[in-house]
Amino acid sequence: MAEALRVGIAGLGTVGASVARVLRDKATELTRQCGRDIVVSAVSARDPKRDRGVDVSSAKWFDDPVKMAQTADIDVFVELIGGDEGPARLSVKAALEAGRHVVTANKALLAKHGVALAEIAEKKGVLLNYEAAVAGGIPVIKTMREAMAGNSVTRVFGILNGTCNYILTRMEAEGVSFDVVLKDAQRLGYAEADPTFDIEGHDTAHKLSILTSLAFGTKIAANDIYMEGISNITQADIRAAGDLGYRIKLLGVAQRTESGIEQRVHPTMVPTASVIAQVHGVTNAVAIETDILGELLLSGPGAGGNATASAVIGDVADIAKSRPGFQHGPVFGRPAKELKPYKKAQMRSHAGGYFIRLTVHDRIGVFAAIAKRMADNDISLESIVQHAVSGEAAAQKTVILVTHETTEAAVRKAVDGITKDGHLTDKPQVIRIERAG
Ligand SMILES: NC(=O)c1ccc[n+]([C@@H]2O[C@H](COP(=O)([O-])OP(=O)(O)OC[C@H]3O[C@@H](n4cnc5c(N)ncnc54)[C@H](OP(=O)(O)O)[C@@H]3O)[C@@H](O)[C@H]2O)c1
Repeated sequence: MAEALRVGIAGLGTVGASVARVLRDKATELTRQCGRDIVVSAVSARDPKRDRGVDVSSAKWFDDPVKMAQTADIDVFVELIGGDEGPARLSVKAALEAGRHVVTANKALLAKHGVALAEIAEKKGVLLNYEAAVAGGIPVIKTMREAMAGNSVTRVFGILNGTCNYILTRMEAEGVSFDVVLKDAQRLGYAEADPTFDIEGHDTAHKLSILTSLAFGTKIAANDIYMEGISNITQADIRAAGDLGYRIKLLGVAQRTESGIEQRVHPTMVPTASVIAQVHGVTNAVAIETDILGELLLSGPGAGGNATASAVIGDVADIAKSRPGFQHGPVFGRPAKELKPYKKAQMRSHAGGYFIRLTVHDRIGVFAAIAKRMADNDISLESIVQHAVSGEAAAQKTVILVTHETTEAAVRKAVDGITKDGHLTDKPQVIRIERAG
């Protein structure tokens, strides 16, 4: 049997401790599958005394993950510290430069430095695996990088943040407000004390930027993403969406268009009958549309110690199975040096259907004025209805419009016009409708 693969784990928190536990509990099975033992030979975290719920005392302890990355005692450096700078970045870079394979679950690090790190990995002939960084336990990276060879991706989209999907699912099921569900999610540990990163779309954007690079062979451009979160989604939106046959999801969408590649994260209406609309709670899902395969949808647990550890261990096992001297495939599907610059499609040219909810004064002429603004901007309406909202003041009414395919620029102009007309009593709500199978 080949020599054991020696793994160093940096970070022994939720994911790191699970990885150590599963590697111990499934050692025999993994040896059978990989043809060699996988042993945890080194670990690093901040507090050497903390009980991790798993005995790692046989592994060499390192206070400094960079030192662990450089030690000759490991073959694979597993980074589970988190953060886009500091110890995570320094240690991953040091490990690659020292010729160690790296496995990471760190989407923030890859979104910011992924291409530079991939260049080092490819120069050194080592693997940089990151299955757990996007959609936790769902094997989307392997699917896109390996199983879909030859396919040209036209669109990739998904529910990439469990916290947001949990909040939207409960808002719809229980008819309660965003604030109430958020507080509950925080109490149950599904949302952070500071939830901004999740609910305003940043976490989804990091993951989307990695998928975009894989899908379209472009450099990661995490700062070039149109982003709207879910904090302004109301019960009125959810109920109106339901009446119209839609469900609201926070989606990350990357799509090839004539003017470039669109990357957007925003609340989206998807048809209630579509598969992605059936993805509830903390579950994640990724849909990939290609010329050869058509549409593929993967769904499963997007976070949590064990689910994330499953993806990390799959990456470690791939390294255990690879043979010395074997030329590894490029990190983002194409050699990092050949990734094209990201050509951003302007959001204003985004084309699609739109849901527009307007709260207006209950007076004569408002309906006609709204319809005129739409017509002036060449927006054709699928429906325009006055929507009864329970508890609504008698002096105001809710008007719901659903447009046929139009452009973001036209919708913004029409809504600005309606706002200037002075008919609105509240901020207008605009939600994009996404085609989904
Ligand atoms: N949690 C999930 O469900 C999930 C899902 C997908 C991806 N991820 C990603 O996985 C990574 C880890 O997440 P997590 O939830 O496991 O985080 P976590 O529970 O906060 O654990 C972080 C670990 O890093 C250690 N650490 C912090 N600074 C360090 C330093 N300077 N040197 C050495 N160790 C250091 C901590 O040590 P101490 O324990 O001693 O403080 C802790 O063990 C992140 O990149 C995250 O985005 C997490």
